[in-house]
Order: sequence, then structure tokens, then C-alpha cells
Amino acid sequence: MGQVIQSSHPLIQHKLTLLRNKDTEPKKFRQLIREVAILLTYEATADLTLADVPVETPLARTMGKELSERIGLVPILRAGLGMVEGIWELMPSAEVWHIGLYRDHKTLQPVEYYNKLPVHPRVQLCLILDPMLATGGSVEATIDILKRWGAKRIKVVAIIAAPEGIKRVVAAHPDVDIHVAAIDDHLTPEPLSPDDPPAGYIVPGLGDAGDRQFGTG
Ligand code: PRP
Ligand code: URA
Repeated sequence: MGQVIQSSHPLIQHKLTLLRNKDTEPKKFRQLIREVAILLTYEATADLTLADVPVETPLARTMGKELSERIGLVPILRAGLGMVEGIWELMPSAEVWHIGLYRDHKTLQPVEYYNKLPVHPRVQLCLILDPMLATGGSVEATIDILKRWGAKRIKVVAIIAAPEGIKRVVAAHPDVDIHVAAIDDHLTPEPLSPDDPPAGYIVPGLGDAGDRQFGTG
């Protein structure tokens, strides 16, 4: 059975507040996304399996440990891209497989536009990376894609989630762990006036994670 794990780590919570700040400029924003992704992944990988391995130190031969699972990092384009580099430095032998999805502005449904997964999975654990889990449609669709591909063990690493999205992903995929820095209050409803924000944004959230990283929007 999967779990929803909300981190209470002080470093993550401190950096999350800087990410939320509307005055944080793109360079700093990208750095924070990278750092929070590393810290969340540190927590999300605490149960990786290890195998015994002999090692020679300068003084003696002893037994050590090595990871026995291959890991696939699966960033959802484009906002998930900013989470990859730092995590990859922690685990340089991980494979990186990109999934391209965007949310249709009207329906909020995910639309797939890029997927180059190899024919068969070569990894034992897939970590889906996306800073925002809003309606949950993008993460649900990515898990569907990975399961159809044959992935057996999947975890989601997101930075901010909405309760609606968590509920949807847990209902569709109860076997998948979801690691987040925060579960926020709600999603914006359909706008009633031109001054209202568009529907489907996380409140309080941090705005548009793609636009804030890439300086667009
Ligand atoms: C954002 C975000 C997620 C998705 C979350 O991407 O990075 O992928 O929305 O929304 P959902 O939970 O309602 O599916 P977006 O579609 O804006 O594309 P982008 O990353 O290319 O900006
Ligand atoms: N995508 C974002 O980038 N931000 C949100 O609040 C919701 C979806």
C-alpha cells in the first residue's frame, strides 16, 4: 500500500517558503527547486535495498554495501526538468526518461506530447519528478504510462500538492508512494472575472512552476 509522506524537514520547509515568495527571481527559484528536490529524494530513497559487497580500505578488507536497485528518474516536462540535475548528482548511475505532458488550459486534462521510453524497463524503481501535483491528472497519466511500460515500483516526488490531486492519485494508484514538501489548501475555481486567476492553480502554491523556472509567462 502506498503512502503520502509530507516532509517536515526544517531545511525543506525553509526553502519552500523562499520558493513560494513571488519576488524570488528565476535563478534563485531554479536553485531552490534543485535543492528541495535533492532533500525530498533523500527521504524518498530511504528504503532502497542494499547488497553486501567486499571493499578494501587502505588498512583492511571489510564488507560494505552497494545499491542493488537501478533507479529511473522520470521528470514530467517541462517543470520537472529542474528537479533532475541535483538528484542525478546524488545517484549518477540513474537512468533519466522524460515524459512530455502539458495541461490543456480549458479542460485541465493532461496531453501527452513526448515519450521515448525503451521497449522494456531496465530499472527497478521509477521516481516521477514534478514540482506541482494540482488536479493530479499529469501524475496519474504518467503512472499509467509507466505501468503500461512494465514499471513495478513507482514513487512520486513533488514539491507542492493540492488535496484534490493527492486524493485522485491515491484512488487511481494506491500502491504508489507520494513524497511532498507541502499539501496546500485548495485549487483555484473557474474564474468569475478577468481579474481572477485561471482555474486549477494550487493555493497558496507558488504560481506556475514552469514559467517561474524558465522565465516565461
Ligand atoms: C504543470 C506542472 C504539472 C501539472 C500539474 O505543468 O508542472 O506537470 O501542471 O497539474 P495537474 O496536476 O493538474 O495535472 P504544465 O502543464 O503547466 O506544463 P509545463 O510544465 O510545461 O509548464
Ligand atoms: N501547475 C503549476 O505550475 N502551478 C499550479 O499551481 C498548478 C499547476
